[in-house]
Amino acid sequence: MYRVYDCKEHNYTNDRTQAIPTIKKLSPQKQIHIAIGEYRVGSPQSWSEEHSFKTMRTDANWVPKVVIFGDMGWIKGYSIPNLQKMAEKYAMDLVIHIGDIAYELYTFKGTLGDGFLKAIEPIATRVPYMVIPGNHEYYCYRDQDLGYNYKRRFKMPQNTDNEYYTMKVGKALFVAFSTEYYFRIENGSNEKVLKQKLWLERVLTEANLPHNRAKQPWIIGLGHRSLYCSTTDSSCINGMTIDTGDTKTKMIELEEILHRQGVDIAFWGHYHYYDRFYPVYNRTMQNSSNPYVNPFSTVHILSGAAGMDGDPTPERFVDPPPLWSAFRTIEFGYSVMNVVNDSHPQKPIDSIWIVQHNHQTRTSDNKCSV
Ligand SMILES: [Fe+2]
Repeated sequence: MYRVYDCKEHNYTNDRTQAIPTIKKLSPQKQIHIAIGEYRVGSPQSWSEEHSFKTMRTDANWVPKVVIFGDMGWIKGYSIPNLQKMAEKYAMDLVIHIGDIAYELYTFKGTLGDGFLKAIEPIATRVPYMVIPGNHEYYCYRDQDLGYNYKRRFKMPQNTDNEYYTMKVGKALFVAFSTEYYFRIENGSNEKVLKQKLWLERVLTEANLPHNRAKQPWIIGLGHRSLYCSTTDSSCINGMTIDTGDTKTKMIELEEILHRQGVDIAFWGHYHYYDRFYPVYNRTMQNSSNPYVNPFSTVHILSGAAGMDGDPTPERFVDPPPLWSAFRTIEFGYSVMNVVNDSHPQKPIDSIWIVQHNHQTRTSDNKCSV
């Protein structure tokens, strides 16, 4: 199916009535399979069906199961059935959709967004469904501003219109940020780039304070447009997103911040395939017998194959791949972090252990060990 971005048909949907319920006094899990809560959403005039959910654990030994993917639509949301099955068994604790949602939430005056949210309802009512914005969350809005549908259908922490935030989950600190600012500077996003950059430096500096890093040693970055890539897409040049070389956009600054601030792993989407990269910084990769043990820099993982929509052409790979591309596939799917076990509904196509004994900041001229 081809999609033409005809914004006339879609219009804003900010005339809708929306209720945002809040559930208070939740208790963390003490053990697995307890603290299942049941709830309905609505008012005396109209109630939803009953849902149930499981609160997160907070104990030190908890290993959260986190599902991460980008680029999942409704019409071709191939990963949705598997995610529903996992949610039904509470086989994951958290879902993170790293941009490009539904294709698109606003389409047909938001009715396509309604369909997508109905499809993920069995997931999002049982475990947290977190989002960050991709380019499709901006299409068809005035001045290419972030869309009402994205801002109002989700509610992420820290009141930044769901654009950037942090969350602590077990021993991981997730740092979610917008890569779209770097692509919309003609609309005044330069200020947003600077504001987010200051925010990133602040939260990552705080995260690296010894008492904080002891509690959350793993720092995980979440962004939509992948810094690294290995496709023939016109925006992927010499193994990096071309826009990183644009002095106006300065997206390359992101890599330096993630590297210097000791971010262990960064998940990305935008390109519709899966690519696991060797630890790499400034196009220099680590080439050792086991690069994922104490990696010298951030490990980048591109996970954009959850089920994109509207593009009849599969992603094509450059051949040979860039040195930093360790494994890639166009199979549809999603990433499950810290989980390879019987609760996983399908055999993984790719799996790695990343081991880091020294979670710490790095110098920006840090060289890899070859
Ligand atoms: Fe995208």
